[in-house]
Amino acid sequence: MLFEPFRIRETVLPNRLVLPAMVTRLSGEDGHVNDDIRARYVRFSKGGVGLVVLEAMAVHGAKSGPLLRISGDEFVPGLRDLGARIHDAGPSKVAPQIIHFLKISRSGWRQTIDMLSLDEIDAIVDAYAHAAARAREASMDGVELHMAHAYTLSSFLSRLNPRKDAYGGTLANRLRLPLRVLARVRRVVGDDFPVGVRFVGEECVRNGYTVLDAGPIAVALAEGGADWISLSAGGKFEDARVIEGEPLYPYTGYSGDRCMPGAAYPDGANLYIPEAVRAAVRAAGLTTPIIAVGKISDRALAEDVVRRGQGDLVGMARALLADPDLPKKWARGDDEKVVRCLYGNVCKALDENFRRVDCTLWPKKSGQAPESDDVVPPRWPEAGSLVHADYKDGRVLVRWQAALDDEGMYGYQVFRAEGEGILRHHASVRAASTRYEDARVVSGRRYRYAVRPYDLAGNRGPMSPTVDVLVSESH
Ligand SMILES: Cc1cc2nc3c(=O)[nH]c(=O)nc-3n(C[C@H](O)[C@H](O)[C@H](O)COP(=O)(O)O)c2cc1C
Ligand code: SF4
Repeated sequence: MLFEPFRIRETVLPNRLVLPAMVTRLSGEDGHVNDDIRARYVRFSKGGVGLVVLEAMAVHGAKSGPLLRISGDEFVPGLRDLGARIHDAGPSKVAPQIIHFLKISRSGWRQTIDMLSLDEIDAIVDAYAHAAARAREASMDGVELHMAHAYTLSSFLSRLNPRKDAYGGTLANRLRLPLRVLARVRRVVGDDFPVGVRFVGEECVRNGYTVLDAGPIAVALAEGGADWISLSAGGKFEDARVIEGEPLYPYTGYSGDRCMPGAAYPDGANLYIPEAVRAAVRAAGLTTPIIAVGKISDRALAEDVVRRGQGDLVGMARALLADPDLPKKWARGDDEKVVRCLYGNVCKALDENFRRVDCTLWPKKSGQAPESDDVVPPRWPEAGSLVHADYKDGRVLVRWQAALDDEGMYGYQVFRAEGEGILRHHASVRAASTRYEDARVVSGRRYRYAVRPYDLAGNRGPMSPTVDVLVSESH
């Protein structure tokens, strides 16, 4: 089901898996595609994902840190070359995400949408239209309009939109600029070029909108000609952490947690959003595909998303950063070999600090997920795994011996069961470490642990024997 081709206008995706946009901080401040950017995206295509949405790139010339740009014709050759390399490397289709953002300063000041004149609003429409035309000119397979998070078009959609004129107040007014942008983009790119939209289905800030507004917003965008709707959540300035002398970063508050749900959130934490929005779109008689996103990394969950009608396409950002070969591995039934994202959000912290966004699981300084066709799994040393677990001060400490591999160890999966229950994957640990501290334990209960090593290709070695530990304060 996940691996059936999926048609969007004339573009046929090889499967239903999507890489949502993920800023890499690999470009310089000049905004041009460089070797690091090329390597990063070619790697995703080699892994077989259906659609690569290229990281947010600016439609205008406003100053920012390292960020790709599509704000002038001089950026077209680099993007065309990038698209061609992605197409040559694998089956993926590719669409850039295009963004407009307002000014922000280290003093804590930030420009808000009520400061924009009507001429400045018209200029935003022009900038999106020219950028979309450049995406087409660069032979991309489509373009995604960024209307999510803390950025300009999202601030217009927001229930906190402070404008007093025809661009603020009612939902119809809040939609006015996003719909103008969509209409102008459609006019310049023509009817055959896929134009997707990304917006937040829930703002996740006090007095922000929820799926009750997101349904009608999606219907309006779908009627306005959007070819896909990708649903994110939160990521707002309103609840961002204030640090003296630093510009606000919109993913540091609760809404930021909801945008990139970390390890403390359940899998598929945001799926009620695409589910509700898709139901609203279908109830309006529209067939626009919905991209569901948010802590999806498990194949059964990804299939459930499609089966339960929570989405037509399955977006996985961090899961694909952790293992770009995930689609290829799932397609050939090698689910066991997937290197699982830990959702510890090291990548998010790197983005926040304008540092290159790598995954903490990758081998140090490699700058890329490892590539290996090795089929020989790792093994425990002769003395065995020597796994043992001790309880102390509210935590269980699990320790083991380093495993061996012919090519290179990558990490360990820690499995845990409560009482006589089934052992489930609980955490992953990098190969450099041979210990795991479990703080999510409750007094009076017995826990069982086992450890399984995996190598650079994701081959799993043998599961260690199971050890158990009783959590008791007198222990
Ligand atoms: C490092 C990083 C950069 C991101 N950059 C963007 C971006 O440029 N545009 C965007 O719409 N979302 C961005 N996101 C959000 C992701 O697209 C995605 O919605 C989010 O990570 C949740 O999906 P996941 O659980 O599959 O990772 C970014 C996320 C991360 C971790
Ligand atoms: S850094 Fe952490 S959260 Fe980000 S992709 Fe890697 S494992 Fe996942």
